[in-house]
Amino acid sequence: MSLFKKVDELRSEFKQALASSPALSDLERIKQEYLGRKGILNDLFKQIKDVEPARKGEFGGLVNVLKQEVQEAIDALLSKTASSTGASAGVDVSLPGTVYQRGSLHPLEQTLRDIKSIFHRLGFSVAEGPEIETQWRNFDALNFPPEHPARDMQDTFFLNNGSVLRTHTSPVQIRLMMDEKPPIRSIMPGRVYRNEAIDAGHYCLFHQVEGLYVDKNVTHGELKATLELFCREYFGSDVKLRFRPSFFPFTEPSNEVDVTCFLCGGKGCRVCKQTGWLEILGCGMVDPNVFKSVGYDSEEYTGYAFGMGIERIAMLKYGINDIRLFFENDVRFLKQF
Ligand code: DAH
Repeated sequence: MSLFKKVDELRSEFKQALASSPALSDLERIKQEYLGRKGILNDLFKQIKDVEPARKGEFGGLVNVLKQEVQEAIDALLSKTASSTGASAGVDVSLPGTVYQRGSLHPLEQTLRDIKSIFHRLGFSVAEGPEIETQWRNFDALNFPPEHPARDMQDTFFLNNGSVLRTHTSPVQIRLMMDEKPPIRSIMPGRVYRNEAIDAGHYCLFHQVEGLYVDKNVTHGELKATLELFCREYFGSDVKLRFRPSFFPFTEPSNEVDVTCFLCGGKGCRVCKQTGWLEILGCGMVDPNVFKSVGYDSEEYTGYAFGMGIERIAMLKYGINDIRLFFENDVRFLKQF
C-alpha cells in the first residue's frame, strides 16, 4: 500500500474510533494512540524517508493536515465531555471537595485598621513601643506626681526589676519625642495593662490608640477639628462632639470628648444611659512639663495629644456589651465580624 493511501486509511480508522462516542477514558487512550510521542502520527512522519524525493513535501503536508484534524476532533470531544460531566482530565467531580474555612479579622484588628486609615488620611504616621516600660516613661516623664493614685499597686502591674507593664500608650509619646525632632504627627496603637477586677466593663489588658501632634503654633482649635473629623468619619457624619474640661497630668488644658449617641441619635437610650452622649476619648494640649522631660523648648513648640480605648470604641460601634468577649475568642462571636 502506498504511504499516501495509508494517510487516508488512518483518517477513516480514526473517524470510526470516534464514531462510537467513546467514554472519557477511551478518549484519553485514543489521543495517546494517535498523538503520543510513539503514536501513529509520529510513526507516519518517520516514514517520510521512504517517500520518493519529489513527493516528500506533499506527503509531509498531508500528514500535518491529518494530525491537525485528529487534534481538533479529540479536543472538541474532550471539552464537550468535560463540560457535560463537569470532569476534566479524569477528575471524579462527584468526590466531596475540601472545605476551606475562611477566617475573618478579629473585631479589634478591624477597628484598629479603620482608625488607622482615617488618621493616615490626615497625615498621621504609626509608631509603636514596648509593653514593658520604665516607670519614668509611664509616669514621671508624663508629669505624674510621685504619689499619684494611678501608680498604685491596685492599678499597675509592677515587675520585679522595677519596670511596669505599661498602663497606657502615652509613654510611646515620650519615646517618639526623644527619638525625633518636631514636627511629629503620629498615632501609637498598642496593648496596655491594668491590675483591675475583671467584669463586663473591665479586663486586665486592653488596647489604646494614642495620638500626638507637635510643631510650632499647634492650637487647641486644630485638636478639635481633627477629632471632629475623626468622629464623623468613624461614627457617621451627623454625630456631634462635646469637649468637657477634665484633668490628665500630661495635658493642660485637658478634655474628655463625648459624641452624640449614634444609636438613639441623642434622645437617650440604654447604651448612653439616657444621657444622649457617649464618652470616647481623652485629650488636651501637651503640658510644658512633658516637653521639659524630653528636652523640647515649650516656648518654641506646642502640641496636642489624645488617647482612646479600642475596645470601648468597638463595643460602642458594634453594640458589644462585655469586654471579655474580645479575649475569649469564641468563634461564634468572632464569626459575626
Ligand atoms: N493615657 C490616658 C489614659 O490611659 C488617655 C489619654 C488622655 C491620652 C489624654 C492622651 C491624652 O494622650 O491627651 O486614660
